Amino acid sequence: MNIQYLGHACFLITSNKITPKTTSGAASDHYSLLIDPFLNGNPAAKARAEDVTATHIFVTHGHDDHLGDAVSIATRCASTVYATVETGGRFPQTVKVEVGQIGGFIRSDFGGVKFTAAAHGSNVPGGLACGFLIELEGKKIYHAGDTGLIIDMMLLAEENVDVALLPIGDRFTMGPRDAMRAVGFIKPKRVVPMHYNTWPIIEQNPELFKKEAEAVTGVPVSVLAVGEELQC
Ligand code: NI
Ligand code: MN
Repeated sequence: MNIQYLGHACFLITSNKITPKTTSGAASDHYSLLIDPFLNGNPAAKARAEDVTATHIFVTHGHDDHLGDAVSIATRCASTVYATVETGGRFPQTVKVEVGQIGGFIRSDFGGVKFTAAAHGSNVPGGLACGFLIELEGKKIYHAGDTGLIIDMMLLAEENVDVALLPIGDRFTMGPRDAMRAVGFIKPKRVVPMHYNTWPIIEQNPELFKKEAEAVTGVPVSVLAVGEELQC
């Protein structure tokens, strides 16, 4: 699979491998999983929402820099959206939304997704932000969403996470030091930093994070430029 960084917390994971169908869902041998599609109005993004296609869209929470263009892309592409009950309620009824809550797993045609804990709001009364543990091609990609460092991340060590997408921007989420501790909790095979340098208030040096995190944890860190892809 390919993991492409589209800027901020947005990633496009594409799979061309034929995945055995498990439950319901349209027969497809191509999956494009889009996470937190904040593109139009995102100073860090190069892609336009109009140019991105997705079979499935994952929205960690209702803040504008995550919900972003999810409604327009889901409408145009007839994508299935995954979100918590509260965040899912932000979508018009014309969009197919698979709702879940933290701790829950949803099996899908592409594999499946588990909703993971995040310490953050969701811009929706009573709503919590979440992360996603996505299973595709027998691999596990963890997108932390917006969150501070939480002990719950230790539970992910048993999941054998292949790639962890972790915020390092600080102020609204973990900063580099706590993200480094998160790597120690999660023990993934690889880390990709996100949610930094979109605006001056979340400015960070990802190369410094890479150097320190690799030295402390031994886990390789891939700093992706906007538009860059990681083969996995
Ligand atoms: Ni947020
Ligand atoms: Mn955010």
